[in-house]
Amino acid sequence: MSALEIKGLSKVYSNGNVALHDVSLSVPKGSFFALLGPNGAGKSTLINILADTVLATGGSARLFDQDLFAERNWCKRQIGVVPQEVAFDPFFTPREVLAITSGLFGSKPDDAWIDHLLDRLELTAHVGKNTRQLSGGMRRRLLVAQALVHKPKLVILDEPTAGVDVELRRRLWGFMRELNAAGTTILLTTHYLDEAEELCDHVAIIDQGKVVTAQPMADLMQQVASSYLWMNYDKPLSLSEADTLALTDFKPRVSDTGVCLQLGKLENGQSTFHTAYEAAVARFGPPQDAGVRSEDLEDVFLRLTKKEIRERT
Ligand SMILES: Nc1ncnc2c1ncn2[C@@H]1O[C@H](COP(=O)(O)OP(=O)(O)OP(=O)(O)O)[C@@H](O)[C@H]1O
Ligand SMILES: [Mg+2]
Repeated sequence: MSALEIKGLSKVYSNGNVALHDVSLSVPKGSFFALLGPNGAGKSTLINILADTVLATGGSARLFDQDLFAERNWCKRQIGVVPQEVAFDPFFTPREVLAITSGLFGSKPDDAWIDHLLDRLELTAHVGKNTRQLSGGMRRRLLVAQALVHKPKLVILDEPTAGVDVELRRRLWGFMRELNAAGTTILLTTHYLDEAEELCDHVAIIDQGKVVTAQPMADLMQQVASSYLWMNYDKPLSLSEADTLALTDFKPRVSDTGVCLQLGKLENGQSTFHTAYEAAVARFGPPQDAGVRSEDLEDVFLRLTKKEIRERT
């Protein structure tokens, strides 16, 4: 069963901005799902529709097999949303914020769970402060705690780690992994693509309000990511016409003293590393230094959203 099934969702803002255009997505139950896209792609619009702070102008969505728009009250209790924008009433302490949020969901505050959240989000030392006195990173962590206070089955995080320092970010992800392992479905947006690649088992990329791809992370990487063999020399290189012809299968690129060849796959699934290496050595001699670099999610993202592929050879 899907945790979330979105069909043909669209959003045109009142000023005419088309933020989402016929978006269909399926978020499998129990998945750790990355919703990625460049600035302005429509990620927050999609999340805010799920959170009921933005109205969709078309389409439908089912949450754990219930109609999201028809069964709002039930659905709201299943979702915990960390919004991109941080806003708190400045006069409450973190514990009060969490207790009040519990109340909004119609439940008595679960003090043990609130203590656990404060501890795991490393806010225990700051419970005496009011939210105005918290740092930006602390406020964002409180926002995460607030989203989890009613133990939702689907957690939606809109850039939860923006402004959170490296070490805390890692620990925050550790906590999200634990929740995911215990059965919580997690949907997150982030611009830290290395973290998305490491954490998420599913990925959707949207650009200009449209879905570019949506599939298991491993399938996307296998289909789209390439590997390159780079070789450095202690002499200047140039590609003659004959060299280009001999290496044409590997789409050769030559810089001053280096050559970079794109590796393919043989029928038996092995890479064309040996053929490429030998072909280059036959033209230029043995290299001083060589290595293989596989494209990561950032390269794949840039390619699919038609941005420049970084030269990192
Ligand atoms: N309230 C609004 N009124 C009009 N247009 C809006 C509004 N909110 C967002 N938009 C527009 O909708 C599009 C999608 O914005 P959205 O905030 O959903 O993008 P995003 O993918 O979350 O981007 P980011 O990575 O910068 O957070 C953009 O073109 C944006 O300018
Ligand atoms: Mg956003």
